[in-house]
Amino acid sequence: MHLPAHGANTQHVYEALGMEAPATIIDFSVNTNPLGTPASIQACWQDWLQAVYDYPDPHYTELKQQIATKEKVESKSLLPGNGAAELITLIARFLHSKNVLIAQPAFSEYETACRVEDCNISYYQLKPPAFTLDKEVLHKKLQAADAVFFCNPNNPTGIAFDQHVMNWLIEACEEAKTLLILDEAFYDFVSPPATAIQKASNSPYLLVLRSLTKMYHIAGLRLGYLVGHPEVVEQIGKRQPHWALNGIALKAGVSCLLEQEHVKDTTNFITKERDRVFHFLQRSDYIHSASAVNFYLLKDPAAASQESLYYFLLEKGLVLRHTYNFPGLEGNWLRAAVKKEAENNQLMEALVQWKKEE
Ligand SMILES: Cc1ncc(COP(=O)(O)O)c(C=O)c1O
Repeated sequence: MHLPAHGANTQHVYEALGMEAPATIIDFSVNTNPLGTPASIQACWQDWLQAVYDYPDPHYTELKQQIATKEKVESKSLLPGNGAAELITLIARFLHSKNVLIAQPAFSEYETACRVEDCNISYYQLKPPAFTLDKEVLHKKLQAADAVFFCNPNNPTGIAFDQHVMNWLIEACEEAKTLLILDEAFYDFVSPPATAIQKASNSPYLLVLRSLTKMYHIAGLRLGYLVGHPEVVEQIGKRQPHWALNGIALKAGVSCLLEQEHVKDTTNFITKERDRVFHFLQRSDYIHSASAVNFYLLKDPAAASQESLYYFLLEKGLVLRHTYNFPGLEGNWLRAAVKKEAENNQLMEALVQWKKEE
């Protein structure tokens, strides 16, 4: 069984399992904004298509200016990327053959990209079910690491560590001279959000990663950025291909960053829907992670394995994200996105039915 290593692209899940895909599918494995792309952005696609005829600005000048203004950092501290995923690959190239620590469970691309670069990889494990952070253990592990990947808010748990914990981690990394790569791809789903972006531009031991594909539901366009000390950013940028970002993404990025009302509407919506789903899960004897964002981990503690629940939902066209390739989870949880009300209702109805048939 070779299940896809990421959410989305649900056809590959059914193919991998040799199952016939139902006519209607709801993708709970993808974790982009259920409210979609702001209408103002959608209205511009047609005009922006003109950008495909020219080479895009290889210096990303306008986008960088917009990010710099929004985040109150200098342009030279910024590197836009073809999705945060490209930036992870560039960071891995920069870390070639170094000792890399990964706080697990986490987005699998850190390890995939660093393995290609012959890095020596070790884990710090956030332990289920609470996924809390043991400072003493992590502190010890940091001493032997050249770099550490830490995802906050965490994918796949959705748990957001607060500013105190993050400040502790930033200081511990500085003291150990370990480069902290703080992945904030989902930071704007948290209300209020915590971020280390301002600190990143001044410290040679901190990089902050952002993605625009989640909040603005533009996963197919690919857009993210990195903030760090100008000298580190320059070194990482040297590894990026010329014209890595396409012209449409450059235009959309500038407009997305002006859409802060959309962010507010989204966090309000997600908070309300997530609370509703969590109340249901608690009443119905399911366990869930204490997520602060638009996805969460879920399990039925009464089931011998979560695999049969995963299949049960797949047969109904409800595709959750398996967790086999998250170290520390090993398939013992399922990850679900917070979607629109009617879709969440369908998942809850199926979970009620599962308990009845169990
Ligand atoms: C934690 C995390 N970081 C980075 C990424 C990559 O995002 P992008 O779509 O911007 O490449 C993802 C994608 O799922 C993610 O979950």
